[in-house]
Amino acid sequence: MYPIILALHSLIRWFVLGSLLFAIYRAYSGWLLNKPFSKFDNTIRNVTVNIAHVQLVLGLWLYFISPIVNYFLHNFHRAVHERQIRFFGMEHVTMMLTAIILIEIGSAKAKRKTADAEKFKTMAIWFTVALLVILSSIPWSFSPLISRPLFRAF
Ligand code: HEM
Repeated sequence: MYPIILALHSLIRWFVLGSLLFAIYRAYSGWLLNKPFSKFDNTIRNVTVNIAHVQLVLGLWLYFISPIVNYFLHNFHRAVHERQIRFFGMEHVTMMLTAIILIEIGSAKAKRKTADAEKFKTMAIWFTVALLVILSSIPWSFSPLISRPLFRAF
């Protein structure tokens, strides 16, 4: 089960990034070009949150079955000084939970706004901050610190 959830979590990262980037693009172009907030924009807002939620569930699942996290939790005092272990046991989880909360708040606030420009602006700002947090906390294959493959085979 662990390798499948890990591969799924790795794959869904691209959907998280793709949906966020597209939502941000629509939000900025709607905001700056004074466009009406369409049903399609609302769907994009919803889809982005839903994909983030799927990733959250997979992440939480992984957290309970990952041997790395298991080692971290059972050897906290030693593991907290080991960068790779600490990253997955603590840093990745904290940053990604923060990012998902930012997406949720941004989406809920945008939904409640009445003016179209305000909806776009709210989405643009909250989703951009969330994207930056996510980009900084993905274990990129090219990272000299914590490196994981861009695509993991099932
Ligand atoms: C936007 C949200 C997230 C993204 C984009 C993301 C992305 C990733 C990526 C790319 C990996 C490496 C996968 C691999 O080794 O192939 C990973 C690993 C991991 N993620 Fe996330 N993640 C997110 C949220 C979360 C959350 C919310 C949690 C926990 C609550 C979590 C827990 C984990 C754990 C435990 C691992 C390492 C598992 C292991 O190697 O044993 N992730 N994540």
